[in-house]
Amino acid sequence: MNKPSSEATSRRTRRLTAPDIGGRKGGEPVVCLTAYTAPMAKLLDPHVDLLLVGDSMGMALYGMDSTLGVTLDMAIAHGAAVVRGSQHACVIVDMPFGTYQESPAQAFRNCARVMTETGCGGIKIEGGREMAETVRFLVERGIPVMGHVGLKPQSVNTAGGFRSQGHDSESAAAIVADAHAVAEAGAFSIVVEAVVESVARTIADTTPVVIIGIGASPACDGQVLVTEDAMGMFTEFTPKFVKRFGEIGEAIGKAAADYAREVRARTFPAPKNLYGDR
Ligand code: KIV
Repeated sequence: MNKPSSEATSRRTRRLTAPDIGGRKGGEPVVCLTAYTAPMAKLLDPHVDLLLVGDSMGMALYGMDSTLGVTLDMAIAHGAAVVRGSQHACVIVDMPFGTYQESPAQAFRNCARVMTETGCGGIKIEGGREMAETVRFLVERGIPVMGHVGLKPQSVNTAGGFRSQGHDSESAAAIVADAHAVAEAGAFSIVVEAVVESVARTIADTTPVVIIGIGASPACDGQVLVTEDAMGMFTEFTPKFVKRFGEIGEAIGKAAADYAREVRARTFPAPKNLYGDR
C-alpha cells in the first residue's frame, strides 16, 4: 500500500496555509476550486488544497452578468461560511471590485476585515504592475496575497468584454511583466486567467511563485475552476477553458421532475414519511 506523503498527512491533520501553498512551486500541482457556501465547501474540502471564495459568486450564485456587483459584506458572509464548512483547504477570499483599488490603506482596511471576520488564510486581488505597491503594503502588514493577472473580470468594462489575453507580443510581454511585478511584491501565488498557452507557460517557468492557471497551461503549478462550471450546473454558455467533470444540473433537474410528479400523483409523502399517532 502507498504511504501517504507528509504533504498528504499534513493536509489531513491541519488546515493548509498560504505559505504551504506558496511552498508548492514546481512540486505537486495545487488543486483549487471555488466555493461560496458551507455545504459545497464540505463536499470539496477532502479533495482540494485551496478553496477560493471567488467574486465569480456574482455570476455563479447571484445571477449577475459580471462580478462587479459583489460587495464586501457578501464576500465576508460567504468567506465565513466556507471557512466553517472546511477543515483542510486553505481558504482564500476574493476582494470585490472597489474595495482595494483606491489606495494601499483602503486595501488594508478592507482586507483586514475579511481576514478577521472570516478566518480565511488570505485574500486575492486582481491587477499587475499597477497593484504591486498595494500587494507589498498588504504582505508587509501580515496579509497573504494571491494575485490575478491576464483576463481580469473586474476590468470587463475597460477591456470591452471577457476576452482571452496575450495574443500579440506587446500584450504577452505586459502580462509577463504584471506577473513578475506581483511576485516581486510578495504575493504567495498568482492566478493567470484566459491567457495564450505559451505566455502562461513562460509565466509559470519564469515567476518564482506558485502560478494557478484557469484557461492557461498545464505547466502551471496548479489549476482552478469555478465549481458550478466544472460540475455542469449551467446549461448555458460554457467557456472554452472549462471541462465539465459532472452533470449536476441534469441530476437536479431530474430530481425536481421526480418530486413534482410524485407530489402531483399524491404518492409523496408516502406512509414512511409520515408521523403516526402517539
Ligand atoms: O472569482 C473567481 O472565481 C476567480 C477564479 C475564476 C480564478 O477569480
